[in-house]
Amino acid sequence: MKSLTKVVSSARRDRDLEARVRPYLPTRATAYVFLEAESTMEMAHQLAEAGAPHGTFVLAVQQTQGKGRLGRTWNSPKGGLYGSIILKPTRPDTELPQLSLIAGLAVAEAIRELTGLLPSIRWPNDLLIGSLKVAGILIERRDGVVVGIGVNVTTRLKELPKEATTLAAQGAECELYQLAGLVHQRLMAWYDEWSESGFAKIRETLHPWMAGFGQPVRISAGSEEFEGTASDLDESGRLVVRLDSGVLKTFDAGEVTLLH
Ligand code: BTN
Repeated sequence: MKSLTKVVSSARRDRDLEARVRPYLPTRATAYVFLEAESTMEMAHQLAEAGAPHGTFVLAVQQTQGKGRLGRTWNSPKGGLYGSIILKPTRPDTELPQLSLIAGLAVAEAIRELTGLLPSIRWPNDLLIGSLKVAGILIERRDGVVVGIGVNVTTRLKELPKEATTLAAQGAECELYQLAGLVHQRLMAWYDEWSESGFAKIRETLHPWMAGFGQPVRISAGSEEFEGTASDLDESGRLVVRLDSGVLKTFDAGEVTLLH
């Protein structure tokens, strides 16, 4: 196992950028901003293994092997927010998928506060503006949990998939590291609520942010596909869908993709 210093010294840090995030963090947490990382997920896992505490924030100006959900790639040129937050949850493992929605809520609130834009959350982990994706969340468990957050801020559109947008393309100006700090602040606040009181209040707060409720969805779950109308989040954060057959079915985030 590498030491904390060794993990950190293997990459170039930018102390000025770290200073911009610092004011938003609780006193004991640290933000590391690296000029380049393969993936902040890997850096965060290594830091967690080396003893970095709950709340540690790892950011990179760009990533060479950015990871998306379900083994996809996350295009990570300059202009995006690429961050991973180390958490040490004490709630049962079965509740960990809720962290994806909690992070989505934190990012949506931070974007609204800084830009006035109103993103919606496409269950379980995408943030949309209209029908275009502006941010994504990735949760990984190893030594603790790492929450990965990617937001397209000023990235050039031609470097992104065609179904993506950026905050800049939506007419919003915002300072990337201020946004990062605010995302961290909102995430830790909702995390504390979740740790102490569970998912109930978060579920209620999430409801108006959710995209596509009352609308038709196609769902790919493993090798099966389902069609129906997305209708709700259940008390655990699973998606409730009224299938075209009339049956209500709930979906776990694991292997599911929404095909609108
Ligand atoms: C998705 O929508 O599929 C999730 C995308 C998550 C991307 C972020 S960027 C920061 C962190 N590092 C990664 O390699 N991935 C996550």
